Amino acid sequence: MNNKLIAPSLLAADFANLQRDIELVNNSEADWFHIDIMDGMFVPNISFGMPVLEAITKHTTKVNDVHLMIENPDRYIKTFADLGADHLTVHYEACTHLHRTLQAIKAEGMKAGVALNPHTPISLLEDIITDIDIVLIMSVNPGFGGQSFIENTYRKVSTLKEMILTKNASTLIEIDGGVSSVNAKKLVDAGADVLVAGSFVFKSDNPIDTIKELKNLTNF
Ligand code: DX5
Ligand code: ZN
Repeated sequence: MNNKLIAPSLLAADFANLQRDIELVNNSEADWFHIDIMDGMFVPNISFGMPVLEAITKHTTKVNDVHLMIENPDRYIKTFADLGADHLTVHYEACTHLHRTLQAIKAEGMKAGVALNPHTPISLLEDIITDIDIVLIMSVNPGFGGQSFIENTYRKVSTLKEMILTKNASTLIEIDGGVSSVNAKKLVDAGADVLVAGSFVFKSDNPIDTIKELKNLTNF
């Protein structure tokens, strides 16, 4: 199987021209929209909230992959489902009862993701991996776009891939932070299935071509 997915992160889009940038992704080879929600508590930044998400999902024609960087995400699972999230990813570090949270996300008809901060080891997912649809490995500290990729990520991807194969799970591996043409192929070689890219796509001269470049680099 070799259909590696590209998920442009709207955090790097022009918020005064969001509809334009959404249409751009709609018309590209991208597979998912990656949508970052931050609460200023779990991470030291606030991105945008429900009214903006509602406006975004009205226009997106691809999968809405919502990444929650918020404390106690259980409070809003149903809200995000109603707002059009197809995937809901919560942080391991923000959930006391992760198993319950994942079941609640699935009960709302969404795919359930778990994100790991750079310091959180893969091994903590061992007893729950078959319940997770997507593991999002943070390759920067969450909160901001445009940071440098952490090299230890390759090792985490290989470890996770091995766990998924051993447990016979169908979990997808998604990488988020500092992704570019420099590391895309190496991440896929290590076992990644989905690459999120914010700055690399939206700060480029031609985002549609940049998405195509990432798609070509990862599907061979
Ligand atoms: C960071 C967010 C990322 C961010 C990635 O906390 O989770 O999705 O948008 O941005 P780049 O690709 O610029 O590192
Ligand atoms: Zn993200």
